[in-house]
Amino acid sequence: MKKSKIVRQAHDLLASLIKKNDIIIDATLGNGYDSLFIAELAKEIIAFDIQEQAINNSKETLKDVSNVSCILDSHEHYQKYVQNYHGVVFNLGYLPTGDKRITTTAKTTIDTLYKMVSDNLARFILVVVYPRHPEGQIESRDLLEFIKYIPNYSVKLINYNESIIQDYIILLKKGAI
Ligand SMILES: C[S@@+](CC[C@H](N)C(=O)[O-])C[C@H]1O[C@@H](n2cnc3c(N)ncnc32)[C@H](O)[C@@H]1O
Repeated sequence: MKKSKIVRQAHDLLASLIKKNDIIIDATLGNGYDSLFIAELAKEIIAFDIQEQAINNSKETLKDVSNVSCILDSHEHYQKYVQNYHGVVFNLGYLPTGDKRITTTAKTTIDTLYKMVSDNLARFILVVVYPRHPEGQIESRDLLEFIKYIPNYSVKLINYNESIIQDYIILLKKGAI
């Protein structure tokens, strides 16, 4: 699986942020490649997707690792499944190999982020944002507004350029970045 530039950047950041005893939430499992990468770094991964196709694809991707739990549910319900966690990754948008109309949405993503920031448990929350499709554009606009008002976390934008619409990363981190 060839990684895009933004996914490579996200993985490099994750490698520097994750500790070996961490429990990580993968809020958007997709085909399971982010979870597979994290499985080498963390103790446990709890991963969510709303599509059965994503869960099935990921079971194949993740067949050789045993520390990833794949949950068919929206990430906004994560509190039903996980009470303690140390980090979170969102890789927004649609399943690359699936129905491109089924995508993360601004409201659900921000509702979930709001709960996670309020939990104040995660050392970091990393969000990969794809503003080059219509829902992604709305999601990006609303997220950029949302992050102006986040308590407890420092915020860093990586690969963001106000004058060019391109994929970027939002990193929320406890303490200074
Ligand atoms: C860009 S893909 C994720 C890529 C993935 N992390 C990987 O490594 O292959 C985005 C995924 O988010 C899922 N998704 C959309 N809304 C969701 C929600 N509310 N909760 C959980 N997953 C959601 C989509 O079904 C899609 O599979």
